[in-house]
Amino acid sequence: MKIDDVKKICVIGAGNMGHQISTLCALNGYQTTCTDIMEEILKKAETFVDQYLPGRVEKGKISEADAKRARENITFTSSLEDAVKDADYVIEAAIEVLDIKRKIFTDVSNMAPAHAILATNSSAIVSSRIADATHHPEKVINLHFFNPALVMKLVEVVQGPHVSEETTEISMELCKKLGKVPVHVKKEVNGFLLNRILFAIFNEAQWILDSGVASLEDIDNACVYGAGHPMGPFRLMDLVGIDLCYTMALEDFKKSGNRADLPYPSLVRHYEKGEYGQKAGKGWYDYGKK
Ligand code: 3HC
Repeated sequence: MKIDDVKKICVIGAGNMGHQISTLCALNGYQTTCTDIMEEILKKAETFVDQYLPGRVEKGKISEADAKRARENITFTSSLEDAVKDADYVIEAAIEVLDIKRKIFTDVSNMAPAHAILATNSSAIVSSRIADATHHPEKVINLHFFNPALVMKLVEVVQGPHVSEETTEISMELCKKLGKVPVHVKKEVNGFLLNRILFAIFNEAQWILDSGVASLEDIDNACVYGAGHPMGPFRLMDLVGIDLCYTMALEDFKKSGNRADLPYPSLVRHYEKGEYGQKAGKGWYDYGKK
């Protein structure tokens, strides 16, 4: 297969990441199907597209014709089979639970064309833990987008030991076609590349907070006004999701057995209260109504 053979993309999961990845694909000329088992989330994703595209036109970022084309390129369905049956490239952005991902990949492998590449947007689960659930492990790869996916240019293309050169090359090329800057991560390590760096910052920030050295706001201000970060670590954790930060720290701990890798107690407190950040209306900060 070659990059030009990729014409139809299926995005599985219409949540935090999936709705933006779908919109991105549609905007860049791909016939895109976005699927989710939850009708409510699917509807929310569709409403987002119907508001986002006119908003881009109003801002002068795209033409009306571009917006119209993008809208025509994207469809929403709760049927996984309908969504993947013609797909050349599948991007899974579902919940970070291994068994669920493995089931999705088995189903997709049975339903999608044999040539299709099956990518996971997972932050915490490497594709070698999923690939053996499919008919073509060499076509299963991590394609890791950053939140908000319509804005952040980076995509990590993580080549596990089972992934073919062809799959990696097409994935790198696809990211470029989507206007992104792909980086090739040559080994499967926890956190891949950038999250290793970001989570080191998150851990330091939580240590400073829990030690009573500075307030949450001042730690965020220090990173924004002293280091030029677009947002401080606590705002960023709220953006990516406290639940995701918790899951990733736990995955680290499971691998290393090192108690220092366990999620920080203050993070656990937010997690246990369901204070997952922006999407929940409350995390480190209070966002008022959800
Ligand atoms: N969806 C779509 N577009 C959005 C958006 C969203 N949720 N939030 C902001 N934007 C767009 C705006 O439309 C605007 O676009 P334009 O300039 O083309 O009109 C642009 O982003 C700037 O938006 P604003 O002026 O409203 O806001 P800011 O300048 O404060 O930028 C931000 C917001 C882009 C989120 C910026 O604060 C930022 O870059 N933050 C850091 C984000 C980051 O580090 N992400 C990576 C997280 S780690 C991750 O995702 C990995 C995971 O595995 C944990």
